[in-house]
Amino acid sequence: MPPDSSLLTVGVPKETSGQERRVALVPADVRSLKKVGFEVLVETNAGLRAGFLDAQYLQQGARIALDRAELGAAEVIVHVRAGEADPQDPFAVGESLRENQILIALCDPLSDSRPVAALAERRVTTFALELLPRITRAQSMDVLSSMATVAGYKAVLLAAEASPRMFPMMMTAAGTLTPAKVFVVGAGVAGLQAISTARRLGAVVYAYDVRPAAREQIQSVGGKPVDFGLESAEGQGGYARAMDQDFYKRQQAAMAKVVAESDVVITTAAVPGKRAPVLITSDMLAGMSPGSVIVDLAAERGGNCEATRPGETVDVGGIAVLGPLNVPATVAHHASQMFSRNITAFLVHLKKNGLPTLDTQDEIVRDTLITRDGQVVNPQIRDRLAAPVS
Ligand code: NAI
Repeated sequence: MPPDSSLLTVGVPKETSGQERRVALVPADVRSLKKVGFEVLVETNAGLRAGFLDAQYLQQGARIALDRAELGAAEVIVHVRAGEADPQDPFAVGESLRENQILIALCDPLSDSRPVAALAERRVTTFALELLPRITRAQSMDVLSSMATVAGYKAVLLAAEASPRMFPMMMTAAGTLTPAKVFVVGAGVAGLQAISTARRLGAVVYAYDVRPAAREQIQSVGGKPVDFGLESAEGQGGYARAMDQDFYKRQQAAMAKVVAESDVVITTAAVPGKRAPVLITSDMLAGMSPGSVIVDLAAERGGNCEATRPGETVDVGGIAVLGPLNVPATVAHHASQMFSRNITAFLVHLKKNGLPTLDTQDEIVRDTLITRDGQVVNPQIRDRLAAPVS
């Protein structure tokens, strides 16, 4: 039988960045893609570091590509992190990608837009998963939420590991141990998961977010919302908006007491496309008891804590300040499983909307599409590229 020319092949490269252990597609989702008319081609050992073997992909009906050149035949490439997030990777910077090939990945396009321009120059069609609208029908494709869930969970484990205390209250023959006090700053997806994980370990958990709606959500996962009497900083689309330095100074002053009384502080505060706000100053650290721990999940965006060094753990007068990077990659199996389910839902959606033709009337397609026909098509990224370099 001649090959079906309407079939599109999805290529799954092995991520090459040193710390990246995830894979964009896991064997369990191969069949769902085949059902809607995709073939799946996986670079050899692409899933190995996340615990998925070539044999499992083959079993589900995928083919294995022995190298990148062979993988390059795929019309669609699905990647975990592309662009500046993974400069070592030829697919990431677009060198191996060809005209009209489709790249679907986390591209971090609002932090550094230059890799996006490089993709446009190569006439690659790029979808940036960060830009997925937070609407109900896109929930199954929401990679940011999935990865934030994993990061929030892992942040608590990192804190527990670094802390000299146990989290739960214990009544033992050797006396009663008081529960750990955990303070979570930023109750978005990661923060809420951190609250519920810390609660499950037995800690007493306080939390704060600049969005008033977060109060109820904090309570719903067993946290105690703290009210600092600050104005709302709710922005568009449910995200926080950037505030001025005066606001952050007032927030720091208001939070100092809770921070000083906490054994663990987990910070997750972010504003899309901006550097993370500094909410914990070195003076605030000086007020904490030795042995306390800060886990700064905003380290990739510069950090919420003044002392954070991205990718490192620093000791500041007996306080451990952790600035972990790419936390989801440390829970690679489940992070890949979630990423893969999201990307499968995204591919099925594109296919139903006529892929390889793109329906830009559709909000999901329109918002995530960043390069096409040699152009950067996302206005926000275009503006950034046009702005003078500061
Ligand atoms: P994010 O990662 O952009 O930020 C994390 C959290 O930090 C946010 O809750 C934000 O309000 C908070 N924050 C920012 N500045 C702060 C400050 N100075 N002090 C304290 N907290 C601060 O947020 P994420 O997790 O991506 O969620 C953003 C929004 O999207 C939320 O409203 C969430 O409920 C909503 N969402 C909606 C979904 C849907 O409808 N499909 C799916 C996932 C999230």
